[in-house]
Amino acid sequence: MSELVRLGDGGTEVVIDVATGAPTIVHWGAPLGAGAELSTLMSALSRPVVPGGVDTIAPIPVVPEYGSGFTGRPGLTGRRAQGRAWAPRFVPVDHHLSDGTLTVDSVDETAGLALRVTIVLDDVLRVRATVENTADRRYSLDGLTITLPLAEQAGELLSFQGRWSREFQSVRREWSSGSILIENRRGRTSHEYPSLLFGGHRGFDEWQGEVWGAHVAWSGNHTMFAERLPDGRRYLQGGELLHPGEVVLDPGESYTTPELVAVHSSTGLTDATQGFHRSLRARPTHPATLRPVLLNTWEAVYFDHDTDKLKALADAAADLGIERFVLDDGWFGSRRDDTKGLGDWWVSDNVYPDGLKPLISHVTSLGMEFGIWVEPEMVNPDSDVFRAHPDWALITQGYEPVLGRQQLVLDLGNPEAFEFILGHLDALLRDHDISYVKWDMNRDHIHGSNQAGAAGTHGQTLALYRLLDELRDRHPDVEIESCASGGGRIDHEILWRTERVWTSDCNDALERQTIQRGASMLIPPELMGAHIGPTRSHTTGRTQTLSFRAATALFGHLGVEWNVTKLTDEERIALRAVIAMHKEHRELLHSGDVVRFDTDPAYNAHGVYAPDRSKGIVSFAQLTSAPSQTPPPLRLPGLDPDARYRVVHLAIPFETWGAARVQPAWLHDGVDLTGRQLAAHGVQPPTLHPESAVLFELTRLG
Ligand code: GLA
Repeated sequence: MSELVRLGDGGTEVVIDVATGAPTIVHWGAPLGAGAELSTLMSALSRPVVPGGVDTIAPIPVVPEYGSGFTGRPGLTGRRAQGRAWAPRFVPVDHHLSDGTLTVDSVDETAGLALRVTIVLDDVLRVRATVENTADRRYSLDGLTITLPLAEQAGELLSFQGRWSREFQSVRREWSSGSILIENRRGRTSHEYPSLLFGGHRGFDEWQGEVWGAHVAWSGNHTMFAERLPDGRRYLQGGELLHPGEVVLDPGESYTTPELVAVHSSTGLTDATQGFHRSLRARPTHPATLRPVLLNTWEAVYFDHDTDKLKALADAAADLGIERFVLDDGWFGSRRDDTKGLGDWWVSDNVYPDGLKPLISHVTSLGMEFGIWVEPEMVNPDSDVFRAHPDWALITQGYEPVLGRQQLVLDLGNPEAFEFILGHLDALLRDHDISYVKWDMNRDHIHGSNQAGAAGTHGQTLALYRLLDELRDRHPDVEIESCASGGGRIDHEILWRTERVWTSDCNDALERQTIQRGASMLIPPELMGAHIGPTRSHTTGRTQTLSFRAATALFGHLGVEWNVTKLTDEERIALRAVIAMHKEHRELLHSGDVVRFDTDPAYNAHGVYAPDRSKGIVSFAQLTSAPSQTPPPLRLPGLDPDARYRVVHLAIPFETWGAARVQPAWLHDGVDLTGRQLAAHGVQPPTLHPESAVLFELTRLG
């Protein structure tokens, strides 16, 4: 017999059967309405027992069980000595709903395991599970993941892939049968396998079709899986990927999964992904202040640190209206290039004979905050700390370690190494006027074992969280940026401890249009670092106008990563104007609802609408040459349908348009249209060149 619990947030409803082994989500979708009779829902959906199969139809609970006849991918795998207790079957023993959290406890007395599942529906659906070893023998856990059902109609999948400098590339695929597996063993969230997966009605797009999506909020290894069972049912699964023997539970010990954070919408991806944004915006650490425009020294000077040159850079930055100056890699130990010094977190005497204070006071006297780069989880073999403590690296004894960027991971699970790093970071922040830390992590985990010789990524990930938590506790006013060679560590768990992500090392605006569009499906713009880089991109060699670079970076947490002491007068005037323009609009840009539009693939259109739909800013960019000479009208759904809006061209300094004898007349004086008209017909953009963009501003009238 089912026992059903309903959770609802107005836009989405979840119905949970708490009478199955682990709870089963029987409805995750549009609200069923107050009159819905849940028992009839269950009876209407009861499935036939078909010939050729077993006589029971196993449900698909949050933790599906092979032991109950589920032949998809089980939610819990593990074993005791001699391979026992390998396929548990749980029985629910208790459930309660308090403060919106449904907690369901189940046990398997034969296997000696207890399972607790928690389900919350707020801005998103959040599900976690904990398995506890209740027997008096060890239990070796191979995996515990969370499973959510997807509707039969979810015939298309959207996943993401990437690489260094090319993060968040979306991949759409038809999903009529079979499965898709995303596994990440890189020890950080990774560029390659963002833990983000959507399923939706065939043909779903930004504004249409029912969509379900999930994200594993975890910064280590993860697994995501979606399968259509041969009987037609579909499900999606996500959790931590555990190496063999990585988690062994002694009697009484337990393991808790990362949170699986999930979103749903009946009206397409834009609406669904706003759930992820609302969820992050609701966390207590979400930045409450306007996001300061920053200058990052990396592409400006790389390792060429010289106090006088940096002071001149700071002068030029302040003159442009920049509010935060971030000193990147190269200020410490023997770090004159990327082959040595990581781990030696003391100011280099050679480069800064009088310490960092003269530079910091110069920066702060200009009215800017000072930020600094660190990469605390790493050591170079060529560093004082590694020479003194070669046993602090996360390697596997007996094997030559695999290096990445000439560096090794520091074993934060080693209490001495942990205290060493914490002590040095603490002292750095205590002794200097530092408001911001760019926390980098530039290599994958490969073959890293903890002190006991077992796989070390799980322990390292938890230790990283402890380190960040402790440091934040001691320095609550310091903001932290999560960087991992660009966007290698972008996830909702790291964002509980950080105020910004470095979205990509690629400052090429063309690449950024796509990267940021993908990233916007997981994080809101105010957390997304976006820099105006040099005219000729350092990562791709492409040359782009300042207006295109500006139009691209304006929507994120704006920064400049360019040697601004070398600007021409025209560039200086334009960049100053762009920064002023960002400041004028950043409140809206950083609090509004992110909207993306569907258009020809030669273009990218997106923007933000104020939550009350009183205003908005949208960007229409041309990426490549297009099949038609004239861009398609930009339709703008999602505004207040009956309100009238004034739409005007928002000029970016020195922007250029493509050739046309006459450009659309409305661009000169603006045009007044209702929300309904904007959704149905939109506005006609001018002709553009590839790698350029125009912005439009919308204001509700009356
Ligand atoms: C990584 C970061 C860059 C920069 C360098 C410094 O690649 O992503 O932004 O900080 O490290 O070494």
